[in-house]
Amino acid sequence: MPRHFLTGAELSAAELLALLDRAAELKAAPLRSRALAGRSVALIFEKHSTRTRISFEVGIQELGGHAVVLRSGEMQIARGEAIRDTALVLSRQVAAVGWRTGPDEGLRELARYASIPVFNMLSELHHPCQALADLLTVREVCGSLDGLRIAYVGDGNNVARSLAVLGTLAGMHVAVASPPGYSLEQDLALPPEASGTLTLCEDAREAVAGAQAVCTDVWVSMGQEGDADRVGALSPYRLDDALLDAAAPDAFALHCLPAHPGQEITAEVLYGQRQRIWEQAENRRHAQKALLELLLSGGEPYAAPVDSAAGASA
Ligand code: CP
Repeated sequence: MPRHFLTGAELSAAELLALLDRAAELKAAPLRSRALAGRSVALIFEKHSTRTRISFEVGIQELGGHAVVLRSGEMQIARGEAIRDTALVLSRQVAAVGWRTGPDEGLRELARYASIPVFNMLSELHHPCQALADLLTVREVCGSLDGLRIAYVGDGNNVARSLAVLGTLAGMHVAVASPPGYSLEQDLALPPEASGTLTLCEDAREAVAGAQAVCTDVWVSMGQEGDADRVGALSPYRLDDALLDAAAPDAFALHCLPAHPGQEITAEVLYGQRQRIWEQAENRRHAQKALLELLLSGGEPYAAPVDSAAGASA
């Protein structure tokens, strides 16, 4: 059975921590692993992307593989070809497939029929690859994740949900503040091995109290452009210096990007000294390389052959 990565809950707590360790190793020596030598990975984009596409495409190349980037609008799937048939064909051509899509049901169907790993590059409900980079970034700053408090302020969207799933799996206490109507579901299922906690509230200052990192995301995500009420409802949740002052000493800001300075985050925070946002964007590549190694090794710890000709670092 192939290993899939659709929500992040497919990982055990030990696998998540090992993945973050491996991501740090690969960040220190980006060309050290040839895990994808001679193999191809399909990346299907149904929606816009900057970071996800670049980080996967470059990361796959650094692992010695080849990325086949597909716009779903140009595929037969856009003309009605079944997801099942697409899965069967992809499984005979590439080693793994990532999909940036809408409803999670399509992603689950692709995984159901694929004999290769399927990974989620963003769906309506989840963005687990983003959460891997978020955790890697927090761990770089704080040393470990267990028992740390992390806050998310704003729309209770796919980014918030994945942070809750993977943050609690890493042992973190995740607090999410959102206005009524924009909250994560109270009964959100956390992974069975989650040792952290999830707190949902309305008050942004309550959520950030004691938090080492404060995250946010856009107020209007892809496909929500017609919802005129969003900006008004989410305005009290802007991530600014005053909100960071209400968090733990030396707390820093995270944002998955793209950002809208003046809306969900101020320019002072986005480009200032109290953020790790640009590091977080780079960490997408390192975390996803570790993920691909894990998925393509069938879940066993990957014994990466060292390509001495490739050098130890880029
Ligand atoms: N954070 C993120 O997924 O960025 P892109 O939409 O640019 O891929």
